[in-house]
Amino acid sequence: MTALPILFVCLGNICRSPLAEGVFRHLTEQGDLASSYPTDSAGTGGWHIGNPPDHRSVKVARGHGIDISGLRARQIVSADFERFSLILAMDKNNLAHLRKMAPPTSRSKIALFGNYAFGDETEIPDPYYGGTSDFEQVYSMLLAGCSSILAKLETARAS
Ligand code: 4NP
Repeated sequence: MTALPILFVCLGNICRSPLAEGVFRHLTEQGDLASSYPTDSAGTGGWHIGNPPDHRSVKVARGHGIDISGLRARQIVSADFERFSLILAMDKNNLAHLRKMAPPTSRSKIALFGNYAFGDETEIPDPYYGGTSDFEQVYSMLLAGCSSILAKLETARAS
């Protein structure tokens, strides 16, 4: 099938979106679907460009058998709106930012992660100023959401 590249976006690209990238890639690898859904992440802000994910995201991911330590933060660029079929924002601020910067020629589908995954207005809360339990909660939400997104994409592909 034609590959469907997916980009996960948060503010800093060090807490939520690299975790989403790692979880989604893990699920596609388990289903032998990694080449169908190339996965990446980016931040709307540029403060952490080049940095590895926050150590708390790395730790939570590792606890669930996922290694995200090699990822490096980057800021979203306009070319992303040509490269990715699906761009999923972790919260409504990120979503507004994406909608504002999307070039008029973009054919990417831009959506709130929670809306695409759960069909509601769920936002993935920013855990940056929180503790380990906040990162675990984000992981649980991302696992449920990524599982739902992959199931939906696979259903759409089969129909
Ligand atoms: P993220 O979390 O958007 O999930 O990567 C944050 C990381 C850094 C900052 C804010 C949120 N910051 O203000 O530096």
